[in-house]
Amino acid sequence: MKPHGLEFLLFFSSWYCLGARADASPVCVIPAAGDESDDSPAIIQAFQDCGKGGQITFSANTTYYVQTVLQLHNLSNVQIDFLGTILFSTDVRYWIQHGSYYHFQNISIAMEFSGEYINIDGHSQGVIDGQGQVWYDLALGVGGLFGRPIPFSLRNANHSIARNLEIKQSGKWNFVIIESHNITADNIFISSTSDDFQANPGNLGNTDGFDTLYSDDVRITNSYINSGDDCVSFKPGSTNIYVQNLTCVNTAGIAVGSLGQYQGQFDLVENITARDIKLVSSRNGAYIKTYNGISVYYPPQGGGNGTGRVQNVLFENFYIQNITAAPVLIQQCTHWEGYNVPPCADFPATGFTFQNVTWKNFTGNTNPSVGTTVASLACSPKSNCTGFTFTDIDVRPPNGTATLSCTNIHGYDEKCQPV
Ligand SMILES: *[C@@H]1O[C@H](CO)[C@@H](O)[C@H](O)[C@H]1NC(C)=O
Ligand SMILES: *[C@@H]1O[C@H](CO)[C@@H](O)[C@H](O)[C@H]1NC(C)=O
Ligand SMILES: *[C@@H]1O[C@H](CO)[C@@H](O)[C@H](O)[C@H]1NC(C)=O
Ligand SMILES: *[C@@H]1O[C@H](CO)[C@@H](O)[C@H](O)[C@H]1NC(C)=O
Ligand SMILES: *[C@@H]1O[C@H](CO)[C@@H](O)[C@H](O)[C@H]1NC(C)=O
Ligand SMILES: *[C@@H]1O[C@H](CO)[C@@H](O)[C@H](O)[C@H]1NC(C)=O
Ligand SMILES: *[C@@H]1O[C@H](CO)[C@@H](O)[C@H](O)[C@H]1NC(C)=O
Ligand SMILES: *[C@@H]1O[C@H](CO)[C@@H](O)[C@H](O)[C@H]1NC(C)=O
Ligand SMILES: *[C@@H]1O[C@H](CO)[C@@H](O)[C@H](O)[C@H]1NC(C)=O
Ligand SMILES: *[C@@H]1O[C@H](CO)[C@@H](O)[C@H](O)[C@H]1NC(C)=O
Ligand SMILES: *[C@@H]1O[C@H](CO)[C@@H](O)[C@H](O)[C@H]1NC(C)=O
Ligand SMILES: *[C@@H]1O[C@H](CO)[C@@H](O)[C@H](O)[C@H]1NC(C)=O
Repeated sequence: MKPHGLEFLLFFSSWYCLGARADASPVCVIPAAGDESDDSPAIIQAFQDCGKGGQITFSANTTYYVQTVLQLHNLSNVQIDFLGTILFSTDVRYWIQHGSYYHFQNISIAMEFSGEYINIDGHSQGVIDGQGQVWYDLALGVGGLFGRPIPFSLRNANHSIARNLEIKQSGKWNFVIIESHNITADNIFISSTSDDFQANPGNLGNTDGFDTLYSDDVRITNSYINSGDDCVSFKPGSTNIYVQNLTCVNTAGIAVGSLGQYQGQFDLVENITARDIKLVSSRNGAYIKTYNGISVYYPPQGGGNGTGRVQNVLFENFYIQNITAAPVLIQQCTHWEGYNVPPCADFPATGFTFQNVTWKNFTGNTNPSVGTTVASLACSPKSNCTGFTFTDIDVRPPNGTATLSCTNIHGYDEKCQPV
């Protein structure tokens, strides 16, 4: 739908829900109480009044205090202009009890949009602030702490767009796309940093930039991500995803997975392209991770012995600076529950197929701590890794010669040379 003139809206910004006539698209400018009391009721009201065929504005230079979960469902043909700031409360107890639950890894969402033709535009000034420090501090003690809120999710959304928006200090993952189709995320600025990051990089665990889950036909482009965990993670059910022009700082890299966390479940990831990616001080480059072949403990940290297929994946044009693990990586031994997890060799991941995966044109340098390994691909002896291609991998260790390591990769010896 065609956006309304901004000037018009600002002029009437003290009005609320203008022109809700049947013959015109309804317009809602959301009022903020201005006294730090909960603005969620006003936000929910605006989405009820204008969420179908209307326009909703979070006003410029306005802070909306959100102390109640926002399940903004059943929207259609709606233009949402995020000109102000949403500030989530730090009431840990509230969010643990009331976040919007999704079964995968027991995640909890603070604000979710569902429906179709949802057009969210931050006009490069809208900010969503999760005030995550309280969660990072808690997470240090309990890695998989239940209820860490995700501040922004498109969930059961089709034909929708989010752009020109800043998301910061998220309690957990930043931007999550769940059970959605035909989604564009463009020009999103994500920054979740901890005041304790240098001393405890672990307290930013689980602060992924973007996650896709059971979603198809998604584009993520022209974005900046500074967070402690995966820059983008293609989780189970991610198909036909296109990612281009991202700068990722202090992240764990571009990830497929973790897969295979749920016993008896088959995880599909198919047709993924990630190109023109700059990774600064990242842990990994472009990588695939699965759990091993036995289920130990429970999600979100534990699990395992699921199966799956990863097919038609292209990682291309990666520029990497100061990476601390391997730019090119597969590992099938993921587990985040520390004790009494049997060695992967005892229960190798079973029932995975990786087919047609390409790493192409990787340049840059590694952190001295990495040693010289720039590729480390370890497929489980019970997986099927075929159709792998490495072209123009030129990421250099500061001293020494780059080495590659391949295990059970069809068509390559242990030094990743074609046989
Ligand atoms: C918002 O604040 C900026 C900076 O103070 C100012 O330039 C702008 O005019 C303000 N916009 C509105 C709509 O008040
Ligand atoms: C969603 O909107 C449709 C049509 O506008 C309506 O029929 C339906 O009852 C709504 N569903 C919910 C859960 O509000
Ligand atoms: C987390 O999910 C598991 C299933 O994977 C379920 O058994 C468990 O009850 C959930 N925990 C919470 C706190 O919801
Ligand atoms: C995908 O979504 C966009 C944005 O809403 C829409 O313009 C486009 O028509 C949709 N594409 C299809 C194939 O439905
Ligand atoms: C890449 O994205 C950044 C925003 O992160 C933008 O400033 C830049 O113009 C984009 N580059 C291209 C070639 O589109
Ligand atoms: C693969 O995904 C891309 C990007 O979403 C899409 O344009 C393309 O049509 C898909 N290819 C196939 C074979 O489905
Ligand atoms: C893995 O899961 C399968 C069912 O999907 C089960 O038959 C098998 O016993 C499990 N393996 C282990 C080591 O628990
Ligand atoms: C390299 O990465 C390490 C670990 O992430 C970080 O401590 C260090 O400051 C980075 N160095 C540069 C020059 O960015
Ligand atoms: C392999 O994957 C690439 C990138 O996703 C795709 O373009 C190509 O068609 C795939 N090849 C086959 C044989 O499926
Ligand atoms: C390789 O990737 C870099 C960006 O990392 C890009 O500037 C360069 O053009 C690419 N080379 C080719 C041959 O595409
Ligand atoms: C591995 O995959 C290839 C290619 O799809 C297939 O030909 C082969 O039969 C598979 N092997 C096993 C053991 O699944
Ligand atoms: C490589 O460089 C690091 C620091 O830059 C140094 O500690 C290490 O001794 C060097 N290793 C070799 C083999 O030169």
